[in-house]
Amino acid sequence: MPEWGCCEPCVPCDKPACGCGNPDCKCETPCQNCTCGREENNGGSCVENNCAEDRREFHSQTVGADGPVLVQDGRLHETLDIFVNSVERERVVHTKGYGALGCFRPYQCMAPYTKAAFLQDPSVETPVFVRFSLAVSNRGTPDSARNVHGFATKFYTKEGNFDIVGNQIPVFFIRDAIRFPEVIAALKPSPKNNLANPEAIWDFIARTPEALHMVTWLYSDVGTLDSVRTMRGFGINTFVWVNKAGEKRYVKYHWIPLAGERCIDSEEARRLACENPDVMAEDLYHTIAGGGCVEYELRVQLMNPCDAEKLPYDPLDDTKVWSERDYPLMPVGRMILDRNPDDYRTQVEHAAFSPANLVPGIELSADKMLQGRSFVYWDAQRHRLGNGFREIPVNRSPDWSPSKMPDSGMGECLEGVVTRSAIEKTDDFTQAGERYRCLPEIHRRHLVENIAADLGPMPKRIKTCVMGYFRKADEEFAARIEEEMNRMRRR
Ligand code: HEM
Repeated sequence: MPEWGCCEPCVPCDKPACGCGNPDCKCETPCQNCTCGREENNGGSCVENNCAEDRREFHSQTVGADGPVLVQDGRLHETLDIFVNSVERERVVHTKGYGALGCFRPYQCMAPYTKAAFLQDPSVETPVFVRFSLAVSNRGTPDSARNVHGFATKFYTKEGNFDIVGNQIPVFFIRDAIRFPEVIAALKPSPKNNLANPEAIWDFIARTPEALHMVTWLYSDVGTLDSVRTMRGFGINTFVWVNKAGEKRYVKYHWIPLAGERCIDSEEARRLACENPDVMAEDLYHTIAGGGCVEYELRVQLMNPCDAEKLPYDPLDDTKVWSERDYPLMPVGRMILDRNPDDYRTQVEHAAFSPANLVPGIELSADKMLQGRSFVYWDAQRHRLGNGFREIPVNRSPDWSPSKMPDSGMGECLEGVVTRSAIEKTDDFTQAGERYRCLPEIHRRHLVENIAADLGPMPKRIKTCVMGYFRKADEEFAARIEEEMNRMRRR
């Protein structure tokens, strides 16, 4: 602080100088930081002079001091053009986000399961960058409002960049990427008036029975959060791990927050949305700025692809979870986030994740949704960040070239009739019912209340259809929603 104790910056040099605006300030100290001229012409106090010193560059080029501005004034054009073009393209989804840097270290050598180099040696640390986000958002969306939260991790491995691009919910609304634009349109505000549009959401659910499982997660307290430190992450889609011998296993990723899991109820979410819309971003930033760190354990579920036939569901269907009893979570390693980005724009906003950023030993499975995701992120990033998006430091992978990208599915023998059709084992409701039944009573109650509040005002046609799905998931679950909707109507 300057010794004269004033706090307002001098306009030209932007450093502290007298000009505090305090009417009682008796200080006559001239600006000591720049050559703004106050030293020469500062006859009185800074309060009188107000530090608003006149400079040539504050003026457009004119004919006479009060004449018209000249079109030839390149400085004016460039100053304004840079400003009006300074707003960059946003992500089409997951617009609001915040990030942190850190490192990942495996607990043990994972060679029996994958040859991925960064998972071989527990003494080797891999730098990481994580971007947390709100799937359906603009930059002002409150963090605590019910949403799907993104959890995208980039591992800067010696073999190239590897990404896990997941959410806080283990399943998704749809199982075929061709319906992604439809689901996002349903979740976004109405194109008519830009207001929240629950009718579009429930109309979508009515024509998408496989979305019911995701609904039982999103409308539970897992859909409302106040911190990423206590948020789980899921890769959702099924990938393939390949070891040196060429043996393949299906794999699903789980991030477990080491601070414990926590979510909030809708009342607390509403309160926080008013009080602090950036509650999660601030919590992450201040935790790290205060010297703390945020830690997650990476666990995987592994499955022998031959199991697929005997399971009642399709393990490559991302509207399903795999039973943790049959496919236990195997700890893989620990991620520590302990550094805030220095520059939000170039590090967080320019980050470009893709589930197809893979390293040798990790491949795409035939999960239809994953296959659809595998190219669209790069397309989106070319549009959003330009053809050179891979050269931006946060995305750079030394020596990257298309020919060095790992292949998926080499050696597999595929056979079938080319078609556009549903998967065989759809089983849309069993896991939604199981999810309801495994919740403690307080969470069941919140889930029922949250669904009833949203579904209650919907047109009869939508309600009848969706209630039919809930009944198929669990009779008691459906009866409670019905009862709660009636209770709300009577109020
Ligand atoms: C399991 C389902 C999905 C999950 C977990 C998921 C997750 C995410 C996450 C976390 C982000 C934000 C990444 C960041 O922070 O930069 C993202 C962005 C995006 N997602 Fe997805 N997504 C899913 C499905 C899809 C599908 C099916 C599509 C389209 C076919 C899609 C298209 C996009 C696009 C275009 C972006 C913006 C990419 C960019 O501009 O960088 N996503 N997704």
